[in-house]
Amino acid sequence: MHKGFTLWFTGLSGAGKSTISEIIEQRLRAAGARVEVLDGDVVRTHLSKGLGFSKEDRDTNIRRIGFVARLLSRNGVIVIVAAISPYRAVRDEVRSWIDHFVEVHVDCPIAVLAERDVKGLYKKALAGELANFTGVSDPYEPPLQPEVTVDSSRETPLESADKIWATLEHLGLVAFDRSPHPHERVGRDLQSRADS
Ligand code: ADX
Repeated sequence: MHKGFTLWFTGLSGAGKSTISEIIEQRLRAAGARVEVLDGDVVRTHLSKGLGFSKEDRDTNIRRIGFVARLLSRNGVIVIVAAISPYRAVRDEVRSWIDHFVEVHVDCPIAVLAERDVKGLYKKALAGELANFTGVSDPYEPPLQPEVTVDSSRETPLESADKIWATLEHLGLVAFDRSPHPHERVGRDLQSRADS
């Protein structure tokens, strides 16, 4: 058995929220945990279908995600949210609804995101062809006191996932061995001893 909690990833489009959250999801599942993922891109195809990117619509999107996250996590499910969630006030509002809320800021400079530009949206936004694009033509308010910050321009997704996992352990939210292979754990322990 494990406690339910909500692991909330916030950050700009393309920063790596989904990629890092998938690693954490897999580790939790490998450890036998019950996990649900609420990803902005997916949620917007059903739960939030029809919502756009005005402040009002984004806040509605975040409140809907937060509502579901609360229902699940209070019933012992581990909920992973990956949504830009650009506005601090509504993130804090959702935090106040949920008993164990862990906010992860996935940071990355705009220049790096514009260079990666997996979906081609930064190019359009920087050319002035896309209004209300977060970080370029729309605001992003970084959390002031996130439980953990990762920087995807300096860390690999695995390094960021390790950092987040360490935070969850520190908060007493995960206690199980994340590795399905006991020998891997021994190797890691020996390595960290050698490093210290
Ligand atoms: S949020 O602001 O309401 O939290 P959400 O995470 O659900 O956003 O959706 C973001 C995704 O929508 C981005 O990854 C991107 O693919 C797409 N998108 C389309 N238009 C915009 C826009 N104007 N700003 C940000 N993302 C956009």
